[in-house]
Amino acid sequence: MSDHPMTTDECQEVDARMDRNLALDAVRATEAAALAASRLMGQGDEQAADLAAIRAMHRTLSCIDIDGVVTVGEGMEGETPLLYSGQKLGAGGGHRVDIAVDALEGATIVARGGQNALSVIAIAEQGGFLNPPRVYMDKIAVGPGLPVGVVDLDAEPGDNLASLAKAKGVTVGELLVCILDRPRHEGLISQVRACGARVMLILDGDVSAAIATAQGSLGVGPDIYLGTGGAAEGVLAAAALKCSGGQMQGRLRLRDESSRTAALRLGITDFDRKYGIADMAPGEVMFAATGVTHGALLQGVRRVGRDVVTHSVVMRSKSGTVRYVTAFHDPRRAADSAQG
Ligand code: FBP
Repeated sequence: MSDHPMTTDECQEVDARMDRNLALDAVRATEAAALAASRLMGQGDEQAADLAAIRAMHRTLSCIDIDGVVTVGEGMEGETPLLYSGQKLGAGGGHRVDIAVDALEGATIVARGGQNALSVIAIAEQGGFLNPPRVYMDKIAVGPGLPVGVVDLDAEPGDNLASLAKAKGVTVGELLVCILDRPRHEGLISQVRACGARVMLILDGDVSAAIATAQGSLGVGPDIYLGTGGAAEGVLAAAALKCSGGQMQGRLRLRDESSRTAALRLGITDFDRKYGIADMAPGEVMFAATGVTHGALLQGVRRVGRDVVTHSVVMRSKSGTVRYVTAFHDPRRAADSAQG
């Protein structure tokens, strides 16, 4: 050990290195979960696919030198065997971090062999994520490079689309609006159609949809994501958009007594609060996602010769780097390729 205590600059450099390594560890965890879930693609068993992803992600995270706590988990303790909110994770001896996971975002998609299923993780300093109960969240998300406040959760869809079109220098008719295809969105879908905007209805997977708005400028993603989906998925999308520079707002749907009680237990007292990205992911975050099935954002797990190929994205809010990682896993060399 050196006789000289580290300078502040040296400490920051060590922190930055650990941070970067952690980003790669995070992608190993999403790769492992994606590999495990993809083996069950199209088998019609969403629970099995979900559980396979959860187990694989848990196994990988357990080996990382972190002192982690799952803040946004797969459920509460007792609802899911692993990766429940509050579960401690990691081999210890490292950074104290909060972890938000969705080991398989789109279990139903995988069960029917559809598109856009992801494995997702976000890691932040302690206290780095909003900890929501398992409720819905009303959401609105757009990509980077737009004036702050260009859209607002409380504005009418028509006003948001007009404002967004103006900021992008296009007509409303050129905008592509992504919405989950659910009966609860019937009114919203009609309103958006009435404005003349193009609509992309998705069956599942609104983390991927919100993140894809950041790809809108490349012509591969929607211009805006609108609607109501899982609150945990909202926090994960906020973490991703924090890294890629998009804008997002969300409001928890706490309309009945039991959801309000659950919120209070987690320290949420303002039931009508509109959360921005800075409220849902206040600290520096890193975000990783691996495609499970093919999608606009990421390719799914593929077999190429004897290798199994995964495609992931890793982002860090501190640097703003968005890195795509293609990994070739050799199942013959690793007893469990998920550990690759
Ligand atoms: P999971 O597969 O992670 O459970 O979520 C899939 C999903 O489509 C999310 O992307 C979305 O936020 C949520 O479900 C919507 O919930 P619901 O299916 O109840 O409308």
